[in-house]
Amino acid sequence: MSGDLESLNGVGSTTASKLRASGYTTIEAIAVTPPRELMEKTNIGFNTILKIQEAARQMIATDFKTAQEFYEKRQTMKKCTTGSKKLDEILGGGIETQALTEFIGEYGSGKTQICLMLSVTAQLPYEKGGLEGNVAFIDTEGTFMPERVYQIAQANGLDPQTVANNIFVARAYNSSHQCLLIDRLFTMVPENNIKLIIVDSMISHFRGEYVGRENLSERQQKLNQYLHKLVRLSEAYNVAVVVTNQVQANPTAFFGDPNRPAGGNIMAHACTHRVFLRKGSKGTRIARVIDSPCLPEVPARFLISEKGVEDIDQDDDE
Ligand SMILES: Nc1ncnc2c1ncn2[C@@H]1O[C@H](COP(=O)(O)OP(=O)(O)OP(=O)(O)O)[C@@H](O)[C@H]1O
Ligand SMILES: [Mg+2]
Repeated sequence: MSGDLESLNGVGSTTASKLRASGYTTIEAIAVTPPRELMEKTNIGFNTILKIQEAARQMIATDFKTAQEFYEKRQTMKKCTTGSKKLDEILGGGIETQALTEFIGEYGSGKTQICLMLSVTAQLPYEKGGLEGNVAFIDTEGTFMPERVYQIAQANGLDPQTVANNIFVARAYNSSHQCLLIDRLFTMVPENNIKLIIVDSMISHFRGEYVGRENLSERQQKLNQYLHKLVRLSEAYNVAVVVTNQVQANPTAFFGDPNRPAGGNIMAHACTHRVFLRKGSKGTRIARVIDSPCLPEVPARFLISEKGVEDIDQDDDE
C-alpha cells in the first residue's frame, strides 16, 4: 500500500510514532478514521489531526472520484467461494471483498459452520475461488473449533497445520473487548495479509449487555460505530467481512416469518448483503438473500458435511 507515515506532510518522527503506537500504522487507516477518535487515541491536537488527515486523503485520493476510477476500484474486488456453487450463485459469485456479508439464522442453522468453511477457502488461490490471504476470526460465543478447521482442511486436500496457522482467532469476552479487537485489526490486517474478517456473532454481547428499552439507543450507537469500522476496514484494505446475526421474535408479524434479524435498522443498513439461513429436510440448509439491491431472492440449498459446506449431490429440488 502507500508509503511511510513520515511521507505525509506535517508528520515528523514523533507524530508518526504516536500514530503507530495507537495502532494507526498505515496512511489508509489514518485517512478513514474519524478525527475525534484519532485525537483521543493518539493525544495529538485536533487541528494537527485534521491537517494530517487532509494529507493522507490527498495521498490516497479519497475525495471525489470519477465513475471510471470507482469502476476500477470495484474491479479489484474479489469473491471467495463458500464451497457450494449454489450458495455462491445467489451471492453473485461468492463472498465479496469491500463489503459486509451477514448470515442470519436461528440456533444450528449453520452460521458458524459457514464461517469455519470460509476461514479455509479464503486461503485458496484466486483460480480456486479463494482470496489468497489469511483470516481474522473474532469469536464471541466460544464456538470456534480448531478441530473442525482441521477436518475441513483435510477433507479438501489441504495441509491442516498450514491452514490453521493462517487463521488468527480472538475470543471476545464482552462488547467492549469486541470493539478493542476491531481496533487492533487496523494494524493486523495489513501486517498479516488478512483478506477475510469474521465476527461470529456480531450482536450477542450487545444484546446481552444492553437490556431494556432505556439502553437501546446506546446499544445501537455502539453497534453502529463498530459496524462502520468494519466497513472502513473492508474498503481500505480490500478485505471481505462476514458477520453472523441471530433472529428475534417479531411480535407484530401476523403473516410470514415470525422471526426477524436482530440489531434493527443499524444492522440492515451497514450490511451490504444479508443472507437468511434455515434448516431444510435431511440435514440440508436453505439460504436466501434478503433486502438486496442487486441479488435475486431465490433460495439455494446446500449441505453441511465433513467437508464443510458443499452442494447437495443430486439436487432433487423438492
Ligand atoms: N462435522 C460435521 N459434519 C456434518 N455436520 C456438521 C458437522 N459439524 C457441525 N455440523 C452441523 O452444523 C450444525 C451446527 O451449526 P452451527 O454451529 O453453524 O450453527 P449456528 O447457526 O452457528 O448456531 P448458533 O446460533 O447456536 O451459533 C450441527 O447441528 C450439525 O448439523
Ligand atoms: Mg454459531
